[in-house]
Amino acid sequence: MTARADPDVIDFEELEWERFSRLPAEQQPEWPDREELRTNLRALPKHDLVTRESVDELRRELAGLDAAGGLILQIGDCVEDIDGEVSADTRKKLFFFERAREHLSDRTGRDVLTVGRIAGQYAKPRSQEHETVGGAPIPSYRGPIVNAPWPTEQARRPSPARIAYAHAAAQVSYQVLADHRRAGAGNRPIWASHEMLLLDYELRFLRRGGPGNHLATTHWPWIGARTNRIDGAHIAVAATLNNPVSVKLGPATAPEEAAGLAAVLNPGDEPGRLTFIARMGHRGIDALRPIVRAVHRRVEHVNWISDPMHGNTVKAAGGLKTRHVEHIAAELRSFQEILAEEGRRPAGLHLEATPDDVYECAEDSREPEDRTRYRTLLDPRLNPEQTTRVLDQWSA
Ligand code: PEP
Ligand code: CO
Repeated sequence: MTARADPDVIDFEELEWERFSRLPAEQQPEWPDREELRTNLRALPKHDLVTRESVDELRRELAGLDAAGGLILQIGDCVEDIDGEVSADTRKKLFFFERAREHLSDRTGRDVLTVGRIAGQYAKPRSQEHETVGGAPIPSYRGPIVNAPWPTEQARRPSPARIAYAHAAAQVSYQVLADHRRAGAGNRPIWASHEMLLLDYELRFLRRGGPGNHLATTHWPWIGARTNRIDGAHIAVAATLNNPVSVKLGPATAPEEAAGLAAVLNPGDEPGRLTFIARMGHRGIDALRPIVRAVHRRVEHVNWISDPMHGNTVKAAGGLKTRHVEHIAAELRSFQEILAEEGRRPAGLHLEATPDDVYECAEDSREPEDRTRYRTLLDPRLNPEQTTRVLDQWSA
């Protein structure tokens, strides 16, 4: 799906919207009523969810981490559930992220920077626009900021009223993040990240000025594998940001295209500015080698992290989407080997994981069947024991 973002929804001058709106924007929902969308976007609270100062602080942390050989742990849900107790759920996730960080840090003796897929991981790209339910096609689920997960035509209709609902959930989560940070000297900051996908929403929170535009919805946005074309709107927006940015790269990425992205997104070759998230699949991981070579012919400073989840999704015999922990582990090991062979530093990992005792990823070929332990809104997540098992694949 290619849609053009709507020029009327935000203030042209403030947001340079005109420039972005001429570019192809993949994976935007087909809102039934653009006027209703505009009204809902205009009614959103105007204040920043994250401050420019906190983003600057993260950039300094990332630059320092690069110099000191520290690691990045990016972790959280595929898509956050905002229909439950957002505050309590967020606290539970932060506690889990903190345990995972400690585990990785203890194992490796390295400093670990934690970034959650949290406080805004609400919009999903989909490979199919529709799915078939009871013989009839209905729109795919695109995350709680767009539609509802239940498999009915009505629930899946994109609803602009959801934007305010999702924004309110983000505010609650950010409050928990702030409380967590204030709570004690022992608490390290946990940064927020999400896929910068839904342009109408994100551009509403883009502030001009400073050395670059400030994206006030998240500390650290990433661009997904389906929206990373170099001539697309998502990359054009990312290139203007002062926030650190990440881009997912899949096995079909042309090495020269990755090199082009590095040049566009990190023209000053600054440490900590750009992270590439490799999500190649355990069978496709060799594609990473020529990409790493091509990128480093153009820039020196890129953090390479591994998402060993998204290239390893398969359908279980019973029909549920799953990922085998052995495949995840294998990709993570190969990722580190390839980077080491290329003389580059593996800078960390990106996991879909939950504090809940689910069984969504398969272990030892035991595929998920029990619906009561399969609760993800979209992609299968690691439970805490599986998370530890995967972290243990990281060699110090
Ligand atoms: C995701 O991170 O949930 C996702 C959709 O990833 P990718 O863009 O790598 O497919
Ligand atoms: Co996912």
